[in-house]
Amino acid sequence: MKKDFICLKDFTPAEVANLLSLAKQVKHNPRHGCDFLKGRSIAMIFQKPSNRTRVSFETGIFQLGGNAIYLAPDDISLGKREPTADIARTLTRFVDGIVARVFSHQDLIELSKYSTVPVINALSDESHPCQALADMLTVQERFGKVSGLTMAYIGDGNNVCNSLISICSKVGMHLRIATPKGYEPSPEFVRLGEECGKKTGSKISVMTSAEDAARGAHVLYTDTWVSMGQEEETARRLKDFEGYQINAKLASLADKEYIFMHCLPAHRGQEVSTDVIDGPRSVIFDEAENRLHAQKAVMIFLYTFKHQ
Ligand code: CP
Ligand code: NVA
Repeated sequence: MKKDFICLKDFTPAEVANLLSLAKQVKHNPRHGCDFLKGRSIAMIFQKPSNRTRVSFETGIFQLGGNAIYLAPDDISLGKREPTADIARTLTRFVDGIVARVFSHQDLIELSKYSTVPVINALSDESHPCQALADMLTVQERFGKVSGLTMAYIGDGNNVCNSLISICSKVGMHLRIATPKGYEPSPEFVRLGEECGKKTGSKISVMTSAEDAARGAHVLYTDTWVSMGQEEETARRLKDFEGYQINAKLASLADKEYIFMHCLPAHRGQEVSTDVIDGPRSVIFDEAENRLHAQKAVMIFLYTFKHQ
């Protein structure tokens, strides 16, 4: 039976720890797993634009000896030209894996249900697990540990935030989320995060005060206030998120060794000030690089996974 990487909720704390340790190994030995995907092709369905995800997956698949087939939004027109179930049943006859960036998370579930090959979530409206894994690898590199640290996520309770809840709860890291009213993360992710946190020692809290979230935090994290597909809401969102910018004043409340994180693309002057994102505590390009290593680890993990 195959294993997917659609949502971190489906992974145990031990599996997440394994993924992180594999990603570290892969990073320190780039030839680790070379030829692993030899003779294998991976289809990459993208309904939205991408820089990091597309390039890191294509490069990672190449480094593992495989063949990546990029399918741009208009190539297979997921959900428009033919049913998603038919796309899944067709691709499964050709390729050994499907990486997909979709508007609706339900499409990933459908792709998984109707294919016999692993499906990897390259971002959906619900979550962005590859990003969260790379982020945790970055925190681990910077602090030498993840458990017991505190991350403050300030901004929109979106897909990136949901996956950070999952990963923090799996690794025992505390997460304080500050959003304006109406922009909170998924209550289901929060509930599951709190439940898992009881076992790992992680505490997840949601609040409206950016200052309360930032105080003493080791990691300050933000993402765009307008995600892909929400462009029509731009004016309203820019107004609603006033006061939620990570800037030098807010950062002065954090731990003095804090790091600044952002999944990118970023909007300087909106969710983050230029001095913070381009300042000495920013690790945004380590995060971007770590997408490559984390995703190679995910692929190695999925193709070696044995159900208990
Ligand atoms: N962070 C991230 O997923 O970037 P892209 O949208 O460029 O892939
Ligand atoms: N929340 C953003 C993340 C981009 C990588 C979006 O969905 O557009």
